[in-house]
Amino acid sequence: MSAHHFNMDHQWLPFTPNRHFRTDPRVVVAADGLHFTTHDEQKILDGISSLWCVTAGHNRKPINEAIKKQLDTLDYATAFSVSNDKAFEAAHMIAELAPGDLNKVLFCSSGSEAADTALKVALAYHRARGEGHRNIFIGREKGYHGVNFGGMSVGGLPANRKVYGAQLLPRVDHMRFIHDPVHNAYIHNQEPVWQEDPLVELETRILALHDPSNVAAIMVEPVAGSAGWYLPPKGYLKRLREICDKHGILLIFDEVITGFGRMGTNFGADYYGVVPDMLNFAKGVTNGVIPLGGVICRDHIYNAMMNAGSPEHVIEFFHGYTYSGHPVACAAAIATLNLFKEEDLFARAAAMGPVLGDAMHAAFKGLPNVIGIRTLGLAGAVELAPMAGAPGKRAFDIFLDCYHKGVLVRAAGDNLVICPAFTVDKSQIDQIVGTLADSIRRHA
Ligand SMILES: Cc1ncc(COP(=O)(O)O)c(C=O)c1O
Repeated sequence: MSAHHFNMDHQWLPFTPNRHFRTDPRVVVAADGLHFTTHDEQKILDGISSLWCVTAGHNRKPINEAIKKQLDTLDYATAFSVSNDKAFEAAHMIAELAPGDLNKVLFCSSGSEAADTALKVALAYHRARGEGHRNIFIGREKGYHGVNFGGMSVGGLPANRKVYGAQLLPRVDHMRFIHDPVHNAYIHNQEPVWQEDPLVELETRILALHDPSNVAAIMVEPVAGSAGWYLPPKGYLKRLREICDKHGILLIFDEVITGFGRMGTNFGADYYGVVPDMLNFAKGVTNGVIPLGGVICRDHIYNAMMNAGSPEHVIEFFHGYTYSGHPVACAAAIATLNLFKEEDLFARAAAMGPVLGDAMHAAFKGLPNVIGIRTLGLAGAVELAPMAGAPGKRAFDIFLDCYHKGVLVRAAGDNLVICPAFTVDKSQIDQIVGTLADSIRRHA
């Protein structure tokens, strides 16, 4: 099959340079394990778990079988005022995995929906408690919480502000970015230690400016994944928790990437020993096979909403999606979570993380244009000096080159990110890292 068998006139590709794509189509038609087969019969090693999703590897039979069985049993049922058995079972399993009293799961279908759901819970919760004036959100520079207006607003990507800035949510502020390129450009399998406390500005400037009593929630990714695997300084998230507790502010962790094993623990919250008030998930919960996302809330949030004094026939949280708790997606989640457990895949991620980190530091350090390498958990990024006048182009060229050499990596700005499935082995890590190192050398 060649690219010309596709009529490419109608699909407008997401987050992709469309005009360039037409000159160099990259089309996959099958996948198994860590490999894709392309339309022109090439094998591509998936070095990024298909964007942090396929953490158990492609084409896993137990997940596929569970989906097929569910289709023949209950294909779909409305989620409003009726529910389904698989949604209850999946929510139970997710709550069991989550730390502390993160016990109540609101389902949706994506990380973007999870972000907006969590922000709406925060507003509704404070209102239910008689603190409706708490309506300011705080995010972080370069944070990514998806593409909907709430997530974009609390997120801190300049590209979103450039194009959509005029209509982003008004009462939002941002903490500084967690990157120290002078002292911590190279992070090798351990949390970076900073000389200064980057959260001083939160207490002394941002909260002082808005008054903490007006702030509804702070939302952060435990590790900034989409921007290029930027790791928080040691103690940062614990300190953030303390500040939120002191001021009655809800803490939301966006764990769309760090959730379900990427750090070698159930969630990033477990890795960092901090329980947020809400935890957003998506992607890996179904091994990426079927869209499912959600927000796990602590008991006190649910209880406050239930006990707000409205009559029993009234909806307590005026929110939900047609596909919240879709039975087929939930059946996929149940099978995926069982598979994680049966194959002890989070422990495998914990074991393979240092192997990936060591390989990346050994291969990339000292290569032309390399200005940073950050590894922790089963993921890492190598940062390159941007080309003069063309930020992102060097990484994009290298991404393309690696693809044509049989390895899929991810370009994020001038970072190249590697985040394979937890089932990755040492020889596959060597192939991914070796191909990328070669390409960096050739693009000097
Ligand atoms: C931390 C985080 N939040 C939200 C999202 C958005 O998820 P989705 O693309 O499923 O809407 C992503 C996607 O990469 C993410 O990394």
